[in-house]
Amino acid sequence: MKASSRPKSERFCSFVNDQIITSTGYINEVIQQVTSTRYISRMHQRGNSTGYINKVLEQDTSTRTSTGCINEVFNKILQQDTSTRYNNEVTMSDSGLNGTVTSRVKEYYGNVLKGSNDLKTTACCISESIPHHHKEILALVHDEVISRFYGCGSPIPEALQGMVVLDLGCGTGRDVYLASKLAGENGYVIGVDMTREQLDVARRHLQTQMDRFGFKTPNVDFRKGYIEDLASPGIEDNSVDVVISNCVINLSPDKESVYREIFRVLKPGGELYFSDVFADRRVPRELMDDPVLYGECLSGALYTEDFRRMLRNLGCPDYRVVTGHDIEIDDAGIAGKVGMINFRSLTIRAFKLDSLEDICEDYGQVATYLGTLPEAPHRFILDDHHIFQTGKPMLVCGNTAAMVQDTRYGDHFHVVDDRSVHYGAFDCEPASASEGKNQGSCC
Ligand SMILES: C[S@@+](CC[C@H](N)C(=O)[O-])C[C@H]1O[C@@H](n2cnc3c(N)ncnc32)[C@H](O)[C@@H]1O
Repeated sequence: MKASSRPKSERFCSFVNDQIITSTGYINEVIQQVTSTRYISRMHQRGNSTGYINKVLEQDTSTRTSTGCINEVFNKILQQDTSTRYNNEVTMSDSGLNGTVTSRVKEYYGNVLKGSNDLKTTACCISESIPHHHKEILALVHDEVISRFYGCGSPIPEALQGMVVLDLGCGTGRDVYLASKLAGENGYVIGVDMTREQLDVARRHLQTQMDRFGFKTPNVDFRKGYIEDLASPGIEDNSVDVVISNCVINLSPDKESVYREIFRVLKPGGELYFSDVFADRRVPRELMDDPVLYGECLSGALYTEDFRRMLRNLGCPDYRVVTGHDIEIDDAGIAGKVGMINFRSLTIRAFKLDSLEDICEDYGQVATYLGTLPEAPHRFILDDHHIFQTGKPMLVCGNTAAMVQDTRYGDHFHVVDDRSVHYGAFDCEPASASEGKNQGSCC
């Protein structure tokens, strides 16, 4: 019987290619059984809930079949460790996004590339200066993880101790492990990626990494999923302190969904801190259809002004560029195809703050960095034109004041005055504004 001709009330469930496919009729039954076990308390500890199970089992109702297998589902869930559980539960198909693009990207990162040296451009893998304390941690990360690092920056912000961190498109886990050490055993780091081969490498070294970091309890979880739909891999609303991502969002065929999901899962005051490739104009369709240009993180790049508009429409009218680098294209064939388009790798921060305004406003506020972040004793770099020297008061706009006061950085800043008196627009220009390259949406 075709799924569409079945009565709605029918309850059915089966496994297709080891994935759990169920009707919504089974959901309550599954939840009842799952909640009566100790397993659910483990899931709660990890920030999951019955809402999550509900969401997982509701998927793909069009392809479900009718065999009673509730116990099988239940047993399967119980048997699996967290990693494989997510692998099997994610049933979203590539065609649910944009089949061709997503399948090609999976193929590129799963099978075509075997290591960073196989890349044809420097779009991924731009060498950015890495802080000394990061280098010390990276020296502990397994060679196989490092050799398949395809990031385009160093999107690891300060103050991660004890935080819940989510890495979108974690690949083989280099940044997850870096964040894991920085977050410590009280923190938690989740890596989401859609490519099984990448996750296989990441997971293979999990226990070794935890041993090398001296962690008794693992603080890392790799989940298979799509960054356009973070509910499926179990990421709940307002549950994440910091979202990081390294050269991934350009690869998404549905970037608006990605950013919407990011702002859904971030806690109020939470931070998105990511590196990605951007273009100085909209990339023509024919270049987007080129699998190598797309896979190399070039032709999927968002035009910076469209990025600004997208974030503004999602409720984030101000973001900050921390660093930026031009991408050099040495391959003559690729350079010939991209012509005059300039690509830049940017590291950007954006905060989930209701109080941000679309231009910088002057409320006479003064912010002083206290020098209390161990990794930044002398200065705190908010963005490419806000470098707070320890102890030196700095006149700031309302948005900057909110970014350092109403976020996890609040403990490390002293901000004088609120927004009770307004002095007009704040005169604030990015250091790089004259080059027209790096500007965020505000100052
Ligand atoms: C350029 S690599 C970067 C990997 C990793 N961040 C790093 O720095 O090594 C892009 C990664 O994003 C993943 N990816 C691309 N599009 C994705 C999507 N829509 N959902 C989930 N993962 C995605 C790929 O599978 C690949 O592992």
